[in-house]
Amino acid sequence: MGSTKNRLLVTSALPYANGALHLGHLAGAYLPADIYVRYKRLMGKDVLFVCGSDEHGAAITIRAKKEGISPKEIIDKYHNLNKDTFQKLGISFDFYHRTSAPLHHETAQEFFKKLLDKGGEFEERTTDQYYDAEYNQFLADRYIKGTCPHCEYEEAFGDQCENCGRDLSPTELIKPVSTLSGKKPELKSTSHWYFRLDNHEEWLRKWIQEGTLEGQAHHDPRSWKKHVIGQCLSWLDSGLQPRAITRDLDWGIPVPVEGASNKVLYVWFDAPIGYISATRQWGIDKKGDPDYWKKYWQSPDSELVHFIGKDNIVFHCIVFPAMLKAHGSYQLPVNVPANQFLNFEGQKFSKSRGWGIEQHEYLELFKSFPNKEDALRYALIRNMPENRDADFKWDDFVDYHDKELADNLGNYLNRVIVLTHKYFDGKCPSPENMPVEGLRSLFEKAEEVGRLIEKFSFKAAIMALMEISSFGNTYLQDVSPWKIFKRDPDSPLIKECIFLSLQNVAILSQLIKPFLPGIAKKMADLLGLPAASEGSIADMFEKLSSGESLINPGHKIGDPEILFAKIDDRKDRSIMDIIDIQKEKLAKIMEEQKPKQPSLKDRITYDDFTKLDIRTARILSAEKVKGADKLLKLEVDMGFEKRTLVSGIAKFFKPDEIVGQQVLVLANLAPRKIRGVESNGMVLMAENEEGKLTFVEPKGSWDIGFPVN
Ligand code: 2FM
Ligand code: ZN
Repeated sequence: MGSTKNRLLVTSALPYANGALHLGHLAGAYLPADIYVRYKRLMGKDVLFVCGSDEHGAAITIRAKKEGISPKEIIDKYHNLNKDTFQKLGISFDFYHRTSAPLHHETAQEFFKKLLDKGGEFEERTTDQYYDAEYNQFLADRYIKGTCPHCEYEEAFGDQCENCGRDLSPTELIKPVSTLSGKKPELKSTSHWYFRLDNHEEWLRKWIQEGTLEGQAHHDPRSWKKHVIGQCLSWLDSGLQPRAITRDLDWGIPVPVEGASNKVLYVWFDAPIGYISATRQWGIDKKGDPDYWKKYWQSPDSELVHFIGKDNIVFHCIVFPAMLKAHGSYQLPVNVPANQFLNFEGQKFSKSRGWGIEQHEYLELFKSFPNKEDALRYALIRNMPENRDADFKWDDFVDYHDKELADNLGNYLNRVIVLTHKYFDGKCPSPENMPVEGLRSLFEKAEEVGRLIEKFSFKAAIMALMEISSFGNTYLQDVSPWKIFKRDPDSPLIKECIFLSLQNVAILSQLIKPFLPGIAKKMADLLGLPAASEGSIADMFEKLSSGESLINPGHKIGDPEILFAKIDDRKDRSIMDIIDIQKEKLAKIMEEQKPKQPSLKDRITYDDFTKLDIRTARILSAEKVKGADKLLKLEVDMGFEKRTLVSGIAKFFKPDEIVGQQVLVLANLAPRKIRGVESNGMVLMAENEEGKLTFVEPKGSWDIGFPVN
């Protein structure tokens, strides 16, 4: 089963060390990787699982500025928090590195130099970029905000609009503003190194579409997720462009070229190299060999798999592979099983709105819940966003735990243990004939779980595992040894049934380890078995396929114990209470989000309405009213005549901007003098809750002077 290569290197996306991670991150890139590596270790594979903190980039410096502390303080705080939380949740990294480490800087600089010295991979380009004169610095894309040219969202960043999700370049923004000084930035020329991604388009297409590299089979493209291939091909179809891989910033890895002071490597150039530097550091620390990392990166006997979220697909399937290929000494990933996104109770996770829950927050909230880690892992696996977005719901969380883990698995294990004690004094009975067929059929079911894990179908795999438990429950019910016992206490059927049931729970205790390591340990303890360990699932498959048992006759098991106390328990509401508080919190946020019911004016009759004479018109000219900040004097063309109006819109519109604007005018309003100017009518404006105004105008270009009825 699986690949024939000896070594496997697995990476999970290096999270930015500028914030805590939420449950969506866990379900996206960390939990699936952990299941995969745990399974592979249990299959006896030489696996290395690395991750670490991504500690460069403008997002970190922006946060530091906002909080008035140094970037170093930010990264130290979140590096430690994230590392510690992953460990508590059982994510079994072999090494958790950080990109601020000296070895990482050295590795990234060497990589850059190698590509630079090779020639043809980089080009230097001089372009105009935004510069904040007050702060004397070029602005990273994230430091520029403005209006999105696609959706008119006014808070779009220079690299992306978070409203419509489109990638942007800073010069596309309408009304760009520096987030440092709040002023309009100026354009100034600067030079940077660009990676010639365009030169790699041809082989990348073959590699992704056909799974071939330099004419040789590299991987089976059918084993890649469709949405991953789809996203890559859509990028390739729009043509690859050279990408700037350096930035003018004072936080990051200095560009190792003389005279390039104040320039650093772009965070997305150095971050994936973080996987390499993590492997290097692990080799030095754990194996005492500075070259040990090469066995995983540079030997054809090793496979590389990247686990990421879908927002990182292009970097891991196009940019980083092109960098590795350009370097020349590296293996490319055999798969990048990216997950889609997890939402939370129907909406995106949002820290600012308090929507969602962070990993460390979850652990803290549920500290009195003994199965908190595995209950969370189970809920996330059971509903993993593998091929489409998924939604985390508290009700599902409770149901998965109570109806599946407690009612199915926990109950089954308990029944088998209780029956073994009842009829055989807690010892595995000796069947009269080895039930080879029964064992083989258990083996087939167990093997299916492994096959699904190999295919990165973790949700299906855990369901197949729970099926084994349901099957065991049904089998017990069908045989009903308690009924046979009443008729014939020495019946060989009772021995066979308990013997096979014990083998089945032993299988479950092994197979469950990649998913729920804490429960696996408790199950093994209850059964008096050693915990699953390196190679133990491979040994189990070997035994089962050759008709050997896992628990031998005479083996003494432990006393029955409840594995899963239900959350929704009438007597003990302590865990349910915590969930109820969370649900109430969400309901409150939803309530606050609802548009407020406005207090409407008193009703009028239709006759009242017809008294208003509203006309379409156009502004001919506009000027400020002397001594009044808020007022503009407007000349409007009503079609049948021209009018002078005074309007309180000066805070929102400059006179020049509104000439030619179509408007609606209340034409039969009694004239009145405002600041010495007679205003003969009123321009209708819509006003939002912040008092911001916008014109109300006919759709498209419309004749003037016509009534609005
Ligand atoms: O999106 C992110 O959170 C990035 N920090 C992921 C980097 S993955 C890799 F390249 F290091
Ligand atoms: Zn937009």
